[in-house]
Order: sequence, then C-alpha cells, then structure tokens
Amino acid sequence: MADFRLPPNSRINKGRHFPAAEGAANVRRFAVYRFDPDSGENPRMDTYDVDMDSCGPMVLDVLIKIKDEIDPTLTFRRSCREGICGSCAMNIAGSNTLACTVTSDSVKGKIIKVYPLPHMPIVKDLVPDLTNFYAQYASIKPWLQTRTPAPPDRERLQSKSDQELIDEPAACILCACCSTACPSYWWNSDRFLGPAALLAAYRWLIDSRDEAKGERLDDLEDPFRLYRCHTIMNCTPACPKGLNPAKAIAETKRMLAERRH
Ligand code: SF4
Ligand code: SF4
Ligand code: FES
Repeated sequence: MADFRLPPNSRINKGRHFPAAEGAANVRRFAVYRFDPDSGENPRMDTYDVDMDSCGPMVLDVLIKIKDEIDPTLTFRRSCREGICGSCAMNIAGSNTLACTVTSDSVKGKIIKVYPLPHMPIVKDLVPDLTNFYAQYASIKPWLQTRTPAPPDRERLQSKSDQELIDEPAACILCACCSTACPSYWWNSDRFLGPAALLAAYRWLIDSRDEAKGERLDDLEDPFRLYRCHTIMNCTPACPKGLNPAKAIAETKRMLAERRH
C-alpha cells in the first residue's frame, strides 16, 4: 500500500477563496481541507462562501453544492445520504461524524471547518485510505463459525433474547469515526485493532450460534490487538450511530479475565 501520510513537519497552507454568488443573502463560510499527495504540495485549506438559501440543510449538501457549482476538484465519499453507508465520515467542526447527518445550522461559529478523519493516510482531500481499517475488520473473521452440522430442515435458530444481544453491535456501519477518535489507534493503528474492529469481534463473541468463541478470544489476547485500549473512552461519544464500542471492549476484557480463572 502506498504511504500517503504527510511528510514530517508539513504544514497546512492557506488556500484559495471562493466568494458567494452575487446577491446571495444567507451566506456561510466553509473551510475545507485539500490535499493531493501526487502533487508534492503541502495540504491547504480552501474557503467557500455558500449561499445557504439555495442549498440543502446538511453539511453533505454543502459539499455536493461546492463540487457541482463552485469547485469540481473537491473530492469526498458519499453514497446513501441517510447515515447508513458510513462513506461520508469526516471531521466537522472538530468532531468525527457523518456529513449527511449534521446540519450546517447546528454548527456554531463563523467558519465551519471540514477535515478528513484524523490520523489516517489521505488518498485525496476528504478521502482517507481505509485499507488497514478494513483489513483489521477482516482479521476478526466477521462471519458465523460453526463446528457442528447445521440442522437438516431449518436454519440455525437463536432465541429472541439472544438475538437482541447482537442488535446493537451489529448496527455498526464501519464508518471509522470511533477508531479515528482513539489516541491509542492514532499511534498504533498497525497493531491495535481499534474500537470498530473490536466491536465487530464482540458481536461474534456474543452470538449464541457461533462455535468459535475460544479461538476468537485466543486471537484477541495480545498486548496490542486488544490490550492497547487504555479505556480512554473517546470512541463511544464519537459514534454517530449511538453505539458503545468502549463497553464492548470492556466486556471482551472481562471474558478473557474470567477464562483465566
Ligand atoms: S476506550 Fe479509549 S483507548 Fe479504548 S478503543 Fe475506545 S477510545 Fe480507544
Ligand atoms: S462503532 Fe460507530 S463510530 Fe465505530 S465504526 Fe461502527 S458506526 Fe462507526
Ligand atoms: S452518505 Fe452514507 S452515511 Fe453519509
């Protein structure tokens, strides 16, 4: 994988300014991080004055308007615009969140600052390289593992209460807001799985149909993969879906501690 991390000591330059269209009465200013690793230039912050009377309410609407009408070179990911796909995760006014679920009105201050998710290699502008993040997710084997034969006449069933246990962790949309808010992940993302992958691991540990709990715990019992979490708790407040990866990690540590006794 190409290393798109910024060179040491690189600074963010002041960028271009795009004034609002003449006659615009309801204008807000957005400062947006711009970086093209292929250019050899430092990142810069471009500012865009946007006429909010001709724009949808969400920050994602603003970015789409900028790309469509003001500056087609701006690059970002989005798909569902419903908070479901996780592609528009970015850092808005200092918080990791989904651009399609945050209204511009809800952000206070004169300038709304938009950055990519922090401490990630950048492909371009607001697009982080999630190769390592997805590889970590794959490494926890996010599928049902069984040892016994399936019943011949039906699916592997579970009780309603067992199913409800996995409802919340299974609602993760892999947006990476939590992992990229975690200081332990910032500094050790090559070896620490991070809260998103650990929440996914927990989802399978507590699935009553799964028969690989021992192996799953063996894979996690490692000073870095799991125990690099120091319970700093940045992850849970960062989750735009209201999930609780910190609690899942604590529960996983408890399972390992109980296994030792
Ligand atoms: S509890 Fe803290 S250290 Fe652990 S994963 Fe969450 S943010 Fe990172
Ligand atoms: S736990 Fe929340 S913040 Fe983390 S990846 Fe899943 S949906 Fe995103
Ligand atoms: S575009 Fe899918 S979560 Fe925002």
